[in-house]
Amino acid sequence: MKLNTKFGKFGGTYVPELLMPALEELEEAYINSKNDKKFNTELKSLLKDYAGRPTMLYHARNLSKRLGCKIYLKREDLLHGGAHKTNNGLGQGLLAKYMGKTRIIAETGAGQHGFAVAMVGAFLGIKTIVYMGTKDIERQKMNVHRMRLCGAEIVPVSLGSCTLKDAISECLRDWVTNVKDTYYLLGTVAGPHPYPSIVRDFQKIIGEEVKKDIMAQEGRLPDHIIACVGGGSNAMGIFNAFIQDTNVNLIGVEPGGKGLDTEFHGASVCRSRPGVFDGQLSYLMQDKNGQVKESYSISAGLDYPSVGPELSYLNDSKRVKFTAATDEEALRAFKLLSETEGIIPALESAHAVAHAVKLSKDLNKKDIVVINLSGRGDKDVFNATEALEELNFD
Ligand SMILES: Cc1ncc(COP(=O)(O)O)c(C=O)c1O
Repeated sequence: MKLNTKFGKFGGTYVPELLMPALEELEEAYINSKNDKKFNTELKSLLKDYAGRPTMLYHARNLSKRLGCKIYLKREDLLHGGAHKTNNGLGQGLLAKYMGKTRIIAETGAGQHGFAVAMVGAFLGIKTIVYMGTKDIERQKMNVHRMRLCGAEIVPVSLGSCTLKDAISECLRDWVTNVKDTYYLLGTVAGPHPYPSIVRDFQKIIGEEVKKDIMAQEGRLPDHIIACVGGGSNAMGIFNAFIQDTNVNLIGVEPGGKGLDTEFHGASVCRSRPGVFDGQLSYLMQDKNGQVKESYSISAGLDYPSVGPELSYLNDSKRVKFTAATDEEALRAFKLLSETEGIIPALESAHAVAHAVKLSKDLNKKDIVVINLSGRGDKDVFNATEALEELNFD
């Protein structure tokens, strides 16, 4: 059995020839692990006992009252590590162990994926190297310290925009040189095949749990599911179980930065066209000559000029609707959720909350909205507070 290499016209394997055997080895190992009882039992137990799954589906009563509709939060922020990235870190970390790899490399933006990999590396006793843009090292310092505490080596990347896309490029470079003993643990549903499928599969537990819990609590499916979109792993994670349920609106929220009409945003689906980047064909921010444009967002985890290929496909087939929230809207939502519920969201997740605020204007109190709270906001407290002060919020 082989996995599909494409989603419609999107996806594929646009990499140097040298990496093809490694990607084929990865696909084969992943397919074997899917059918391996021992692997699945070990992963299930790690997700439960180490990471704390299942996470809660919480009816946010105060926010619901404020917005005039029924809001549920999928609490991925409560997962060990503080974000949904742990699901994929554990899955692929275990896969690396089963493949006998002795070195794990990873890219990170917000540092949440980097931390998930660092903790898995510590736990499994595998040497871990995390590539991170210097801009992100500065704005997500807390996660840099957390990764180092777990024994990971951080390699600062000072190329290009010094953010996630440059860290991914450096990882691919490292992998080409050290392909034999190294596992590249990619953190989102992007990159060359088979990563988009592997990462989606390790994240799809989010939506499966939501489906079960919302049926138990409400006896019906939600009307809307909202997730922020960087590469797209928390979005695919929560959407996947609902793709066939066409009455459920699936909404991806991209980083609108300083506004979609400015140069400073990271909304690849809302404002770009397909192009090849990081080993895949997908929506890509690019100039008229096809040169990759730099993305911008206040949120490091969303600051990426492309998106996973399955989301591009779901956009074109109109199953997922894409929109954007600006930095300012996300900051307002960051404050709103903290004040109404005592839950501080990651700035990434605050983009999804911001869209719920906008959407609620057209909803009534019977409408059910599930927001994927992909991570917690401890890492953002200082930057967000400063930014809120600059905006003169009280
Ligand atoms: C908390 C959180 N949410 C969302 C994202 C965006 O990634 P993805 O689109 O793959 O879910 C990140 C990325 O670091 C993150 O840390």
